[in-house]
Amino acid sequence: MKILFVCTGNICRSPMAEGILRSKLSKAGIKAEIDSCGFESFHIGDHPDNRAQSICRNYGIDISGHVARLFRKNDFDSFDRIYVMDASHYYSVSRIARSAADLKKVDYMLNLQYPGQDLPVDDPWYHDIHAFEKTYLQLDAACERLIEQLLSSKPGPQ
Ligand code: 4NP
Repeated sequence: MKILFVCTGNICRSPMAEGILRSKLSKAGIKAEIDSCGFESFHIGDHPDNRAQSICRNYGIDISGHVARLFRKNDFDSFDRIYVMDASHYYSVSRIARSAADLKKVDYMLNLQYPGQDLPVDDPWYHDIHAFEKTYLQLDAACERLIEQLLSSKPGPQ
């Protein structure tokens, strides 16, 4: 399974989601490829925002090594699932999708918890550390659902 998280700057929400899922996958013993990217070029090449790093560190997750990059068309070929944080990313990814098969890979992150509701993950960028904590908890709960999904679809020993 290859999973991509998408946000705006790729320095807060999507690298946090990537780090959280990576940690849960490792604990659950599930092998998967995870990455994250963004849609705005302001922070290409940057490491995650210090506040995002700090909150993740508090939960034992190191996201300092991530380097921000933009979404690219061949991400549709490289990933099985693409989770966006809000409607602006859904719209941006949809515009680049080449086919119904591409679009089928895309969903809102919080639809993992609240199917079909298309709710946004709060953007903490303009806010204080408490907003980052709230966003972390939203992402953590959604990643937990994803792990449950992956475990329930995992083939048993043959
Ligand atoms: P992210 O947060 O999309 O969660 O990484 C943002 C980071 C930077 C900006 C906006 C959102 N920005 O406008 O620079």
